[in-house]
Amino acid sequence: MTEKIIVDAGYKKSKISRHIYGHFAEHLGRCIYGGFWVGKNSQIPNIHGYNKAVVEAFKKLNIPNLRWPGGCFADEYHWKDGIGPKENRKRMINTNWGGVVEDNSFGTHEFLGLCDELGCEPYICGNVGSGSVQEMDEWIEYMTFEGESPMANLRKANGHEKAWRIPFFGVGNENWGCGGNMRPEYYADLYRRYQTFVRQYGKEKIQKIAGGPNVDDYNWTDVLMKNAHWLMNGLSLHYYTYEYHWGDKRSSTEFDTDGWYRTVKNAYRMEELVRRHSEIMDKYDPEKKVALVVDEWGCWHQVEPGTNPGFLYQQNSVRDAVTAAITLNIFNNHSDRIRMANLAQAVNVLQSPVLTEGDRTLLTPTWYVLHMYKGHQDAILLQTSAACSSCGDPEKNLAVPSLSVSASVKHCEKCSKDLYLVTLANADSDSSKEIEVTMAHLGRNINSAEATVLSGNAMNSINTFEMPDNVTEKSLTAEITACDTVKITMPAHSVAAITIKV
Ligand code: AHR
Repeated sequence: MTEKIIVDAGYKKSKISRHIYGHFAEHLGRCIYGGFWVGKNSQIPNIHGYNKAVVEAFKKLNIPNLRWPGGCFADEYHWKDGIGPKENRKRMINTNWGGVVEDNSFGTHEFLGLCDELGCEPYICGNVGSGSVQEMDEWIEYMTFEGESPMANLRKANGHEKAWRIPFFGVGNENWGCGGNMRPEYYADLYRRYQTFVRQYGKEKIQKIAGGPNVDDYNWTDVLMKNAHWLMNGLSLHYYTYEYHWGDKRSSTEFDTDGWYRTVKNAYRMEELVRRHSEIMDKYDPEKKVALVVDEWGCWHQVEPGTNPGFLYQQNSVRDAVTAAITLNIFNNHSDRIRMANLAQAVNVLQSPVLTEGDRTLLTPTWYVLHMYKGHQDAILLQTSAACSSCGDPEKNLAVPSLSVSASVKHCEKCSKDLYLVTLANADSDSSKEIEVTMAHLGRNINSAEATVLSGNAMNSINTFEMPDNVTEKSLTAEITACDTVKITMPAHSVAAITIKV
């Protein structure tokens, strides 16, 4: 059976904000220390202390933004501990993540320098759980006030004359949990108070992101929107994909077919979460001024055997690649409301695109998906529909659509052509799919079509430091079968990207 996808080239929808393709770096395990940051005196090749290979890997993805310093760490981070001469910086215990010593050698200056190296925007998360209003107020002043003031003077004394641009600022993290175990009513009041002191000093406004719900806590969304929607630019949502949705963590590599489908089904659940939270947001904000910011998403598996359980270091297989592709298609398709998202986390933690070990770096299957999808950044979403089969055992309640899809169009100035990008995931663990993609209302004939694919010999194939190129993006035959139609064959458990020029 041939699966049929229709892309309506005449039905242009929302802009897919590039910020949907954002990342997250917390002081957790080896994400910052040993991941992004190796220090200036390291033997590992570095640019002013930043791991060169890691920076280069992320630059190839055109990453739009990086969220920092947490996560749970944000609500016990005191920014003044991480500025000034390194020898004077406070040493503290990272109580959330492994109880290790945090020496604060990576702080505000180091983070903002990293964003400069990466060419991305900073998204800083402030401390509401254990920090004061004054502390948040002064951090904003320190980073963004250009003129003469106590905090601006301190920044200058610490070697940074010019104010930074901080386009995104989160007012707390998971304040329903590690960020203070608050009730939504209480956090809504705190949000109103704290955000008042996120002052707008620069020409460019800081977008304020309120701490949003956990998974399906629709009441949290309702209370926050009712009490504070006019004071926020975004409301965050956190959802991790587990094999079992109630949070039992299973191996990242040792799973059977049912384990594959349980995980894929939970990845598809993002669609329902986004739809239902958006419906509540629509009630208070029909003009969609407030973005839904999915600033923590990804697969959360059992840690790799022999590693510190508090470091959340896991491998990343073809299953992670397929779930990332499904999730990103959902984000693209809801880009009218979702205008920012952050994969958790960038290096060595949870579903990382990059893993490191000493001076060795590897790109995971998830990195390749982000590479295949990067053409969607700031492109215009197109309406798609799929008449496709399902896969997974219905008797076990594991049936899911075989194909997930999104499509966009962007004008290429260099080649003066419209470029259409169609991205697909084949969720079927063991069958390939012959797929016809028809570009309806194109107005002109397809000029050329190129495709790439990411798969693996098995659904749990991974890249290792010994075999880093086991799972990579490869070219795939894309046959133009009619003036508006392209045909591809996707292997089982795979992700494909088709670029069509007219
Ligand atoms: O990403 C790991 C943790 O997951 C974050 O610190 C927290 O916000 C979430 O619970």
